[in-house]
Amino acid sequence: MKALEGVVMELNDGAFDLVHGIEISDDAEKAFSGVNHAFLVGSRPRSKGMLRSDLIAVNGPIFTTQGKALNSSAADDVRVVVVGNPCNTNALIAMHSAPDIPNERFTAMTRLDQNRATAQLAHKLEVSNDKISHINIWGNHSPTMFPDYFNATCDGKAVTDLVDSEWLQNDFLTTVSTRGKAIIEARGASSAASAASAALDHMSTWYHGTKEGEWASMAVPSRGEYGTPEGLIYSFPCTVADGKWSIVEGLEHSDFAKEKLATTAKELEEERETVKDLLS
Ligand code: LMR
Repeated sequence: MKALEGVVMELNDGAFDLVHGIEISDDAEKAFSGVNHAFLVGSRPRSKGMLRSDLIAVNGPIFTTQGKALNSSAADDVRVVVVGNPCNTNALIAMHSAPDIPNERFTAMTRLDQNRATAQLAHKLEVSNDKISHINIWGNHSPTMFPDYFNATCDGKAVTDLVDSEWLQNDFLTTVSTRGKAIIEARGASSAASAASAALDHMSTWYHGTKEGEWASMAVPSRGEYGTPEGLIYSFPCTVADGKWSIVEGLEHSDFAKEKLATTAKELEEERETVKDLLS
């Protein structure tokens, strides 16, 4: 609670126009009472040398508690984004622990990966970030993710026509998919500012919607789209309108992309198997 008091001080010091009051609690039922937008950031962060998969055992049970608390006390329209890692599988656990909340209200954050991919492309092409669009993330928020550059554009031109495929297939994919680890190694701690910013981007898009022709990466419950196993929390390119996300349909994938999509799905299936006892 003392650390939380420090967070409150920082939130107050941000002088945000929309912060009208702050209540803190270490009781999940109380904290989630009437909540409309839930950011599940509370989990043990990955430290240096720790594998993302090591987190499953320590963090999984946190999300059963949080899912149950949301189920009994959140508002009817609650929307949830899970940030704490392994976020896709934690979102799955929370979703299974909240049977009264529609599944589509549970999401996990891959917007950070999309933002990282955008920044890498903008840097490479020496343009500002706003010139890059339609870059999206498929699958797990882990090194198996697929940052899909095949539909990405820079100022309306296909990125694949502007950058050599060797760089895209190797440096770009590796940099984006292992960025979390690189930050931990450099900072000695997991990403904080960029993750917080991406969480706000995620929820802001969900609330306000995507602009005409814009896509956003969100890890959402799969209904088998693009051949993904049903029920996994898998990142897709989405559009959002009236507070509802929809997976972009009809995208074509090369054999290279298909293999990437399948690899990340397989990892998520393995994670699901590991936590199966937590999926009621
Ligand atoms: C990140 O991507 O920065 C975080 O999810 C940290 C991690 O464990 O990879």
